[in-house]
Amino acid sequence: MIINPLLKKADWYTKGAASGDIRPYVFVRPENKIQNPGSRHHSDWFPMEPIYLNPLEIENLEFAEQIYYIEGRAFGPANMAMPRWVFYDCAIIPGFVAGFAMRTSALPANIRQVMRVKDSQEWTPLSLFIIIPTMAKGQWAAHNLCAINSLLPENERLYGLGFLSKAFGLWYANVESCIGFTQWGSPALKLHTHYGHMQIVTAYTPVHSHANTVTYRVEVETPVWEKFFTRQPDLQFLEKYRPAGFEVDPKDEKTMIALHKMVQNHQGPFYLSAADIASKKLTDPLVVYQSKIG
Ligand SMILES: CC(C)(COP(=O)(O)OP(=O)(O)OC[C@H]1O[C@@H](n2cnc3c(N)ncnc32)[C@H](O)[C@@H]1OP(=O)(O)O)[C@@H](O)C(=O)NCCC(=O)NCCS
Repeated sequence: MIINPLLKKADWYTKGAASGDIRPYVFVRPENKIQNPGSRHHSDWFPMEPIYLNPLEIENLEFAEQIYYIEGRAFGPANMAMPRWVFYDCAIIPGFVAGFAMRTSALPANIRQVMRVKDSQEWTPLSLFIIIPTMAKGQWAAHNLCAINSLLPENERLYGLGFLSKAFGLWYANVESCIGFTQWGSPALKLHTHYGHMQIVTAYTPVHSHANTVTYRVEVETPVWEKFFTRQPDLQFLEKYRPAGFEVDPKDEKTMIALHKMVQNHQGPFYLSAADIASKKLTDPLVVYQSKIG
């Protein structure tokens, strides 16, 4: 199977798709299965049939354990590992769980070293993306994203694994509008800004367990995804938005509170730029943008 050459930097994916050793998985209870998957957004990135597993079947418990294993190690250092009941109550029952998996017999030694592996299982998960439908029309909440990359040394990572996991979920579940949350300074911002233009919903979030959480919303647009790989300038973004004249410093809570107050006072909407974030270190201040009109 040939994958769009635009994705060649993600060679684990293009090669794994060709050999049949990498496939997306969908871990969703039968009643939550997506009708007409992949019919809303135009993309040829995911031509292979996903592996479907029902999380309510006891035979699939080990797959869930392996998801917990990656998640616990990815989020444990930030003290945000997902309790089992959260996965069940907030993801499996109301939502949609997906990611990429590798055929267990094809797992390289370095992944075996950091992962919980059972050779009796045909597939081993490599990543996790969870989305939950919200009461706002057409809007889903991105609840969790993690990849085995966060357990591997930098030079052994599967480039684009986290990015493609979220792209697959948004595409497969026909997500129109996606609200999500992460912490200022998180590497995840490098990914989240590439699914559509990122509007800031909260810049300071003391109601969350981490007050330095940024809540964002994107209207999903596949042309923006491509720029994750091509690094071409997003001309539409540049046509629509201009720098608002201030920045958010991930090291300075005062800048988050100041921006948040402006959002609350309806002085926005404000946006973050994927190109700006891509050019910065995680701890650098980020430019805030606003619409050129109005
Ligand atoms: C955040 C996370 C999902 C990213 O997934 P990933 O598979 O590592 O990232 P991808 O390969 O898709 O993306 C690569 C880009 O992210 C950047 N990146 C990933 N991890 C990074 C890190 N720790 N520090 C700096 N940049 C990082 C890469 O440099 C690359 O950017 P570039 O193309 O400009 O070089 C993953 O690191 C993870 O699971 N982290 C722990 C859990 C977490 O924080 N999840 C996000 C919650 S919102």
